[in-house]
Amino acid sequence: MEDERLISSVKLENDENENLLRPKAIDEYVGQEKVKSNLKVFMHSAKKRGESLDHVLLYGPPGLGKTTLSHIIANEMNGNIKITSGPAIARAGDLAAILTNLEEGDVLFVDEIHRLNHSVEEILYPAMEDFVLDMVLGKGPSARTMRLPLKHFTLVGATTKAGMLGAPLRDRFGVVCRLEMYSPDELCIIINRSAGILNINITPDAAREIAGRSRGTPRIANRLLKRVRDFAEFADSSLITTDIAKNALKSLEVDELGLDNTDVVILRTIIEKFNGGPVGLDTLAAASGEETNTIEDVYEPYLIQLGFIARTPRGRICTPNAYKHLKIPYMGAFGIQQTFFDQEE
Ligand SMILES: Nc1ncnc2c1ncn2[C@@H]1O[C@H](COP(=O)(O)OP(=O)(O)OP(=O)(O)O)[C@@H](O)[C@H]1O
Ligand SMILES: [Mg+2]
Repeated sequence: MEDERLISSVKLENDENENLLRPKAIDEYVGQEKVKSNLKVFMHSAKKRGESLDHVLLYGPPGLGKTTLSHIIANEMNGNIKITSGPAIARAGDLAAILTNLEEGDVLFVDEIHRLNHSVEEILYPAMEDFVLDMVLGKGPSARTMRLPLKHFTLVGATTKAGMLGAPLRDRFGVVCRLEMYSPDELCIIINRSAGILNINITPDAAREIAGRSRGTPRIANRLLKRVRDFAEFADSSLITTDIAKNALKSLEVDELGLDNTDVVILRTIIEKFNGGPVGLDTLAAASGEETNTIEDVYEPYLIQLGFIARTPRGRICTPNAYKHLKIPYMGAFGIQQTFFDQEE
């Protein structure tokens, strides 16, 4: 099941220490240079003007550091952070209670903001725009609306699905940041940093080995580091060497690119059952025995990043690179076998 996958970018039950490993200051936050430099400018000028930071929308696949960044924003702005999520705010009254309790400069972090229900969203618009709460008192013809002023807070919304956010909500964010997958170099820095915090000894090459298999995702990098440490301890080694890392990752069934069995099943399904595609997402999910959502949120972003899958208007296709990785001859558009595999292997 998806939830138990080692290389899942979604947070798992046993991702203990996640808070411990979270950078607290913006300069400790590795990578995402563009997002960081923009945020630094906005935070600096907001502070200088004595105002709260404009509302920030963070989007990108799971495990790239959205929650971490929201804590950093609160820290840097010297505010408190109040954490909630779209599905957790069931009624408009729940949100009203949260909003009225915010102090000047606080950060309200709303995870999975695309899952807010409509009546809650309506309350949010005037709160974001004018820092007021519009309440309806009474019912029917005698109903009156009352405006309650709110403190100047910063809403930080996070979502893995920016496309599912309605335009009225999206447009009320002054700062929109898209988080990108991390390069192996950046993941290496993160792994070494985490190793330091967790007192794990690891050689630079072993760190690089893990980084290359972490699917561009810090959460996975940290998780693989901890699992590889288990293997080192089991082998009575106080140092994680490249050999230990490689063998551990082999036992964990994570290949050199970070793919696991499910990724391979998805690629093989497209290639073997659909002749390389195009195949629609729902059909692909049914044929590979995975959930549509899981394919879209967890597997596909990395497979697309690797250039193994491409999205076309008619569905997903596998690229020649995917064939190459799986060592399956690519038949090309006219069924003419390409020869570059023969030359290489
Ligand atoms: N830029 C970074 N530098 C160092 N560590 C990071 C960075 N981004 C994320 N991490 C690490 O990865 C872990 C996961 O990050 P985080 O919880 O912020 O992801 P997320 O984007 O909120 O995921 P989700 O979409 O599942 O909520 C953190 O505990 C942190 O240790
Ligand atoms: Mg999060």
